[in-house]
Amino acid sequence: MPIERDARLRDVQRGGDHVRFVVEAPNVGRTAKPGQFVMVKVSEGGAPLLRRPLGFHDADEGGFELFFRIAGQGTALLANKRPGDRLDVIGPLGRGFTVAAGGRTAWLVGGGRGIAPLFFLARALKAAGARPVVFYGGRNVAEIPLRDRLEQAGFEVLCATDDGGFGFAGFVTALVEKELAGTKPDIVYACGPDPMMKALAGILAKRAVPSEFSLESIMGCGVGACWGCVHRIRDGSGDGWVKICEEGPVFPGERILWP
Ligand code: FES
Repeated sequence: MPIERDARLRDVQRGGDHVRFVVEAPNVGRTAKPGQFVMVKVSEGGAPLLRRPLGFHDADEGGFELFFRIAGQGTALLANKRPGDRLDVIGPLGRGFTVAAGGRTAWLVGGGRGIAPLFFLARALKAAGARPVVFYGGRNVAEIPLRDRLEQAGFEVLCATDDGGFGFAGFVTALVEKELAGTKPDIVYACGPDPMMKALAGILAKRAVPSEFSLESIMGCGVGACWGCVHRIRDGSGDGWVKICEEGPVFPGERILWP
């Protein structure tokens, strides 16, 4: 199991409830793939808390980035870290996205914090010669905090807000359905809350669009030991429960059985 106890925070940026970590960790960064994740230790002494699974927001030879929303005790503790602090992580873990190449058009659909790993994926797709288009949804403009970063990196970004305060008024799935009326991508990648992904899976299945979904789950261990992250998946011989942390978190759309 790859454990890195000497990763070091180079930069911490905070905007509202959202936090971006830039982490020096060459051993992790050089092998990380889009869609993979790390288990991050949040407590140093005091009450022990489980590690938190966080997908790579970006990675390169020097290290990796994480982007998360403060949503509880664990992420609040993490957000208190400062540049120069050490970070104890296990990873890269799991199986990531299949990166389409060679001029293929890829739509990346992210809702809420699900957008975080899609930045890394968009960069990898562009480097492989594909054309990524990002569909980014949130409840309001404050919940699409990565819009500027995605646009500054040169990606085409289509936004949707539930309250209509910015971009398309409505769910990001409705925006995808609207765009599908005029064109069809070679593949769709998605990461976000289950209701969003379930709705998206239905829309894509009707039009036979290939897809990959990154499933979210509470994870106790991240390495296949606790069975805390199971999901029903279809395979050649029927369907059964698999551990998301080991076999995923990314699965082809046609294999996922939605609750
Ligand atoms: Fe423990 Fe997946 S998180 S088995």
